[in-house]
Amino acid sequence: MSSTAQVPSPSARRLAAPAPGWTKTTDVVVVGSGVAGLTTALRVREAGLRVLVVTKAMLDDGSTRWAQGGIAAALGEGDTPEQHLEDTLVAGAGLCDEEAVRMLVTEGPGAVRRLIATGATFDQDDEGEILLTREGGHHRRRIAHAGGDATGAEISRALVEAVRTDDDLELIEHALVLDLLTDAKGRTAGLTLHVMGEGQRDGVGAVHARAVVLATGGLGQVFSATTNPAVSTGDGVALALRAGAEVADLEFVQFHPTVLWLGPDAEGQQPLISEAVRGEGAHLVDADGVRFMVGQHELAELAPRDIVAKGIMRRMHETGAEHMFLDGRHFGAAMWEERFPTILASCRSHGIDPVTELIPVAPAAHYASGGVRTDLRGHTSVSGLYACGEAACTGVHGANRLASNSLLEGLVFAERIAADIIERDRLGKAPPPPP
Ligand code: SIN
Repeated sequence: MSSTAQVPSPSARRLAAPAPGWTKTTDVVVVGSGVAGLTTALRVREAGLRVLVVTKAMLDDGSTRWAQGGIAAALGEGDTPEQHLEDTLVAGAGLCDEEAVRMLVTEGPGAVRRLIATGATFDQDDEGEILLTREGGHHRRRIAHAGGDATGAEISRALVEAVRTDDDLELIEHALVLDLLTDAKGRTAGLTLHVMGEGQRDGVGAVHARAVVLATGGLGQVFSATTNPAVSTGDGVALALRAGAEVADLEFVQFHPTVLWLGPDAEGQQPLISEAVRGEGAHLVDADGVRFMVGQHELAELAPRDIVAKGIMRRMHETGAEHMFLDGRHFGAAMWEERFPTILASCRSHGIDPVTELIPVAPAAHYASGGVRTDLRGHTSVSGLYACGEAACTGVHGANRLASNSLLEGLVFAERIAADIIERDRLGKAPPPPP
């Protein structure tokens, strides 16, 4: 069963917030600078609205940059949104919102093409067709990738460049949002923030806006070992709760099965070994070389992520081992260098050569499938407050996100949110809370 929660009125805490030293007015504030935040900002700007992006570090410091495997969409010959839907529902363990998933997989291919038009370049074959790989839970090759295993870095590069070259799109980096502001009717009225090292706007300020989009990413840093960068501390969920918004499914934190094992005391962000490595044929083995996932699921190492992570943990407990191994030695040096250059470099920097050695791996916290509850246009339960990407719970992931659906969700829902904001601006209507 999926779950929702809401905290009581946050007014007592809000009274304690410091008074703003500066103020500014805009149409929309986007908090966060990953694929979801920057896509929302760019699409809203295209319609001529004023947009301010605020981010607590630098524009490309969020999770998007670290995504390796890719972005899932039914782009390949013979693939259909219906098949993508099936795989997503199975991975979600019966807790997905089918309408939300249908929308995601149907609008996904178009959203990926628009991302390409914005400047992102995906790996292609000699005929210029996008190369597609497989990951856990997918019955087909449907994951588009860039730079081999540097998909997030390429998407982030393209979006950051588009944002930085748009002179009318305003940015404040190193800005920690303190609280959301609401008017007497409980509608979103902007936010307060603390800016450091930006010069003109240093200190505490207030931004007045009719719409705020929370695209703050996940919360992996709550766990001792995670694939998430240092900025992933659940800020969006905390802000939304303090504003009285509903959150859902926070218990569904996905553990990535194959994270480079750096010792029992390793803490903070750990190097990811993309599921695409298994998608291209690497095997999980124990210390005796046994492929322990075979027989546990029809897809063996490519079962949905929760099943593989549990399979690894079970084998670790059975054998008393601290980790399992990923065997990709049969790829050979050329394939490692061409297809997985980031992972190869990362392993080698830790003294492991995947071309000749087994890679020690163990699960680590990776993705928050739940978050701030939204409807299909990104509305939260607070009027004028939207949530998008990993910070949101749109219903597409259920209990367990299908691999590489996250960048897609960020893209598709960002476009939906932008469309909603633009439409409401034209009609002069404030966003309603969801039914
Ligand atoms: C990976 O490359 O294994 C991660 C992709 C994802 O989290 O969807």
